[in-house]
Amino acid sequence: MTTLTDANTVVQNRAMQYFASHERLWLFGYGSLIYKVDFPYLQRRPAGIRGWQRRFWQGSHDHRGTPTAPGRVVTLVASEGALCQGMAFEITPDVFEHLDHREKNGYLRVVVTLEFEEGPREEALVYIAGADNPAYLGPASEADIAAQISASVGPSGSNRDYLLQLAAALRALEAEDAHVFGLERALRKRE
Ligand code: SIN
Repeated sequence: MTTLTDANTVVQNRAMQYFASHERLWLFGYGSLIYKVDFPYLQRRPAGIRGWQRRFWQGSHDHRGTPTAPGRVVTLVASEGALCQGMAFEITPDVFEHLDHREKNGYLRVVVTLEFEEGPREEALVYIAGADNPAYLGPASEADIAAQISASVGPSGSNRDYLLQLAAALRALEAEDAHVFGLERALRKRE
């Protein structure tokens, strides 16, 4: 991944031509893209990607917090042997205009291999916010992350709702995620 001096990734993502000539392609969603589907798609299927873990380590300046009081949202962190479960959407390339804007706060498009419960593997794009982006917050204790999430709110709503909706969506997918479910418990305990 390239080093970013500005958290806004729209220009870098627009320059990414991978899949540009395809009529349709797969997008993998592992955070709000699972439950807040404000884009058109041709089909969606539960899927997973290997070697990545979901973590509430990315700061949110534009959706669930503000530049001076950022919320915490998920990104993916490389982890050998891990399986990150989420939702794959088959989309047309024109949908990237909307997605690049939505995911502009530090997320870059990355090519990954999707695994479905049945059927062949497929290449897909996923938005990942790397440790080198200016909005990255990195690890913290479960209690501290839950406290930050509990206090944060931004133009897309409360950070609390982001966590609870993600946990509910993962439960509906019968996905395992000790990090997300642990934070959900810590948040509820605070309340
Ligand atoms: C995703 O959902 O795949 C990316 C992170 C987010 O928008 O919450």
